[in-house]
Amino acid sequence: MGRQMHLNLFIQSRGHHEASWRHPQASPRSLTDIAYYFEVAQKAEEGLFDSIFLADTLVAGADIRHAPHTWLEPITTLGPLAIATEKIGLIATASTTYTEPFNLARQFASLDHISAGRIGWNIVTTWSATAARNFGNHPQVSHAERYERAEEYLTVVKSLWDSWDDDVVLDDRAGGVYATTDCINPIDHNGAFYEVAGPLNMPRCPQGRPVLVQAGSSDAGRDFAARHAEAVFTAHLAKSTAVEFYHDLKIRAKAHGREPANVVILPGFSPVIAGSETEAHRAAEELNELADVEVGRLRLSGRFGGHDFSHLPLDRPLTTDDFPPPETVEAARSRTQVIVGMVEREKPTLRQLLAKLAGARGHFTFAGTPEQVADEMESWFKGGAADGFNLMPPVLPWLLDVFVDEVVPLLQRRGLYRDSYEGATLREHYRLPRPAVAR
Ligand SMILES: Cc1cc2nc3c(=O)[nH]c(=O)nc-3n(C[C@H](O)[C@H](O)[C@H](O)COP(=O)(O)O)c2cc1C
Repeated sequence: MGRQMHLNLFIQSRGHHEASWRHPQASPRSLTDIAYYFEVAQKAEEGLFDSIFLADTLVAGADIRHAPHTWLEPITTLGPLAIATEKIGLIATASTTYTEPFNLARQFASLDHISAGRIGWNIVTTWSATAARNFGNHPQVSHAERYERAEEYLTVVKSLWDSWDDDVVLDDRAGGVYATTDCINPIDHNGAFYEVAGPLNMPRCPQGRPVLVQAGSSDAGRDFAARHAEAVFTAHLAKSTAVEFYHDLKIRAKAHGREPANVVILPGFSPVIAGSETEAHRAAEELNELADVEVGRLRLSGRFGGHDFSHLPLDRPLTTDDFPPPETVEAARSRTQVIVGMVEREKPTLRQLLAKLAGARGHFTFAGTPEQVADEMESWFKGGAADGFNLMPPVLPWLLDVFVDEVVPLLQRRGLYRDSYEGATLREHYRLPRPAVAR
């Protein structure tokens, strides 16, 4: 069997297009109805996806009047999803800047027990400048310090997950011994940001450690990913930058003494799929017509940490001078690089840029037939851009259903995708080793 691609379903709003929530083919369910998440996760499981993923930005969003940002808290949502599904991996975002490592370690370890080994944690440092206001932490912690904290946070969390050896729970009722305590150790961490004694207050989880996922692609983000990440989400508007990123991250992982195959790289991919190319383009245009340019302008400002774009006319070609230099941005730095890179390459007007970003916020968008979608995926997968994809259907469940029913069989026929689940845990789906206890 040749190399096969991995698929994660990124569930957000009623789809990833900014206007998806009001599209006639979007789910009729409320975004706080758990049944909605069950339906899409179960469809992804029918499509043999490795995992689903729920993001979290910790803010309601300045554009809440015209676009939903709020749904259910992701860690809480994985609990019921673990019961409603059987095989698929379950990944949630949690922030290293705004949570405590002890609590987070036990929440994710608990979920891994509940799901019998299907949990992943998307480690974010939280780029949103307005999130800081919700945590008595104003102004926002700088980009560099966020990654410094994250580094120490990871040391603590990994040590907590390793504070119990495997199989130390004897549960010997007759002999009166519950656990072999010489294999449960404090961690006595005393660092610049955290003091944590440990041990964790629960047995080691089925995967040893939940799968570590990471989604920051700046220079600091790439180094962090190279040290810790086992799966990486990343946003690219063009295959060429995805190839550069893939190559760079695998080299960085190797430089840290890691096996590059153990860092699974999943660029975002957001396809509108229809029976003919014309129909697919028409559906994509209809979606764009539903998008609100002022929502787009506010979102653009948020990515650049609150930079004011209100004076920019909608219909003159943009230049890079219209944007602050990405290396000075304390917010979503790598996404600002994606955006400024596109402005440099294509010189769009603001209206055109916002339409592009409305599709999937700076991830790759595509419109075509199932065959064309499969061709595009194969070209990225074989062309050194991806180990698989973070599928971001523009409208849910509509374009997930079409993907599972029409694109998955094509990928299977080409030998590029599994015919059945072989493993039971998320590590097994991603072909990642189970970490031994590190002391
Ligand atoms: C697919 C994907 C999902 C992400 N999910 C979240 C999230 O849930 N919460 C968050 O604060 N940031 C999220 N991010 C943003 C990244 O964590 C990171 O802040 C951003 O890419 C900027 O990275 P950089 O600061 O290293 O440039 C996500 C990014 C990607 C590509």
